[in-house]
Amino acid sequence: MNKTILITGGAGFIGSHVVRHFVLKYPQYKIVNLDALTYAGNLENLVDIDNSSNYTFVKADICDEAAIREVFATYRPDGVIHLAAESHVDRSITDPNAFVNTNVIGTVNLLNASKELWKDNHEGKRFHHISTDEVFGALGDTGFFTEETSYDPHSPYSASKAASDHFVRAYHDTYGLPVVITNCSNNYGPNHFPEKLIPLCILNIINNRPLPIYGDGKYTRDWLFVIDHARAIDTVYHEGLNGQSYNVGGFNEWKNIDLVRELCRQMDDKLGRDPGTSAKLIQFVKDRPGHDLRYAIDATKIKEELGWEPSVTFEQGLEKTIEWFLANQEWLAKVASGDYQRYYQERYVTGL
Ligand code: NAD
Ligand code: DAU
Repeated sequence: MNKTILITGGAGFIGSHVVRHFVLKYPQYKIVNLDALTYAGNLENLVDIDNSSNYTFVKADICDEAAIREVFATYRPDGVIHLAAESHVDRSITDPNAFVNTNVIGTVNLLNASKELWKDNHEGKRFHHISTDEVFGALGDTGFFTEETSYDPHSPYSASKAASDHFVRAYHDTYGLPVVITNCSNNYGPNHFPEKLIPLCILNIINNRPLPIYGDGKYTRDWLFVIDHARAIDTVYHEGLNGQSYNVGGFNEWKNIDLVRELCRQMDDKLGRDPGTSAKLIQFVKDRPGHDLRYAIDATKIKEELGWEPSVTFEQGLEKTIEWFLANQEWLAKVASGDYQRYYQERYVTGL
């Protein structure tokens, strides 16, 4: 094996797709998946590849500086692809500190460990930080986020991600650390945790429960199939230029209410329910505080400079997603038990 890549957050939604992509595509790389297995981390996401000879899992918390130093000393990674994070905006509104700890301090711990390990030679080394379009704030009805758009985060989640991006750039500018950053739009696909809009609605449609739409439902997000995000990370990790950032998105904007109506239509079809059945579950509920009106990524740079573009249309991606959830209801039931029940009760039943 000619390279070791440490992927953090590899038991989560996007991370598990990134781990699978690298393990299968690069048998010559040793892939070390570091994850603390929080409520969002689930090793069942990786059962199909966890016996691969080029794959290892390490349970560790990126906030634990000593544990991170030990992992770096043991595995001596050539590259880091950093996805571990607290990722849900609503949770950041009720518990901002967890976001500061993991997203900011945890990222700085990884930067320090990389800086120390690679101090004598940066050749073939790379720290790839996975970030979000939310750092750019909110758009009005027109325009796109480019790599030059100023940072203007509004939620504790996006503020913590913005801070981590700034630290990553600072380690490049100050210490010459070989870094790249990607800022991606909303992902959807298999293994998406059902606290986020699409899997929450799929779960609730299956169980005939209300579909909570915040505010007037006209908030707009730009959706990308998760496997295309994993492909973009592969492209930027290998081909991106040090110190640069790349926006990742599929030019695929949907108002939340239109997206949920489309989901209802397709779910009725797949479940053999009468057309219009699931849409009756839609309920407009209290808005998210500081709710960003619209996100839209201009993904021209990654296409023109690195040749990446999405491989599936939204129609194909949404159908694959629905089919995966319907075929994996045991997975869904398991992640939606235990702690999730308390979260759901507090947030959607007694809390709103
Ligand atoms: P997720 O919440 O599904 O998974 C996060 C993973 O990180 C989990 O496996 C969790 O156990 C792990 N983790 C959390 N805290 C940790 C800690 N202290 N130490 C080690 N591991 C820890 O998140 P996701 O949606 O897969 O997002 C992954 C990354 O991509 C995040 O950095 C997020 O900001 C970014 N991102 C997400 C989206 C999206 O639409 N989901 C879009 C753009 C960027
Ligand atoms: O844009 C990238 C970001 O996308 C990532 O950085 C985040 O990690 C990821 O969680 C996601 O953030 P959003 O806040 O956009 O995703 P969420 O699925 O929580 O919400 C999508 C939209 O749907 C948003 O406008 C809020 C709305 N919504 C969400 C939930 C959970 C509802 O109307 N009802 C809901 O119950």
